[in-house]
Amino acid sequence: MIRHEDLEFRELNSADEQQALDAHQEMLEEDFQFLFWTSNGESWEDYTCRMSSWRRGEHLPDGWVRTGFFVAVEHGYILGRVSVRYELNESLEHVGGHIGYGVLPDSRRRGVASALCRYGLQELAAAGVAKALITCHADNEGSKATILGCGGVLDPRLPSVRNAEGVEELRFWVPTS
Ligand SMILES: CC(C)(COP(=O)(O)OP(=O)(O)OC[C@H]1O[C@@H](n2cnc3c(N)ncnc32)[C@H](O)[C@@H]1OP(=O)(O)O)[C@@H](O)C(=O)NCCC(=O)NCCS
Repeated sequence: MIRHEDLEFRELNSADEQQALDAHQEMLEEDFQFLFWTSNGESWEDYTCRMSSWRRGEHLPDGWVRTGFFVAVEHGYILGRVSVRYELNESLEHVGGHIGYGVLPDSRRRGVASALCRYGLQELAAAGVAKALITCHADNEGSKATILGCGGVLDPRLPSVRNAEGVEELRFWVPTS
């Protein structure tokens, strides 16, 4: 298991480029977007500035809500990431929710997703959000266990929905503190 004193949560910085792009590439193989990165010619510096401005709620694309992006780092190595939507729009309320996380394959089953999820919950609590919506594929046992371990309870009104691809997603509410 991860030692919490060894884990740092922070925004991406200019020194993270290679590691973060490698992580993005590796997780694309599992169909998971590690970064909100599009190779459209944007420099890494501009990308990290874009992420920071989104965290402040500035320069958001149309229809997007304020969003934070944080990596979990152990001894200088990025192990995973969490994105935090500080509010919900209609689409996130349906599927997507407040928090999304991913852990690199070599760092799984050490409690990293649980720590990332708890960090995201703390961020939301600090922003005044009392309950977080977290959704996951119905067959994603790891994510389901992570959410349940953080105190998640299925939405009694709408426990599951189909996402845009027709896949069943479970909808959990998790207290932030
Ligand atoms: C799902 C994922 C985030 C889990 O990350 P992780 O760091 O291995 O999770 P943790 O070590 O914190 O484990 C949390 C719980 O999930 C369980 N778990 C983790 N992976 C599991 C798996 N593949 N099958 C069953 N249970 C699993 C752990 O045993 C633990 O349960 P416990 O608290 O009852 O002991 C990781 O596999 C991943 O990034 N997958 C690809 C991206 C993804 O699915 N993101 C989530 C989108 S909603």
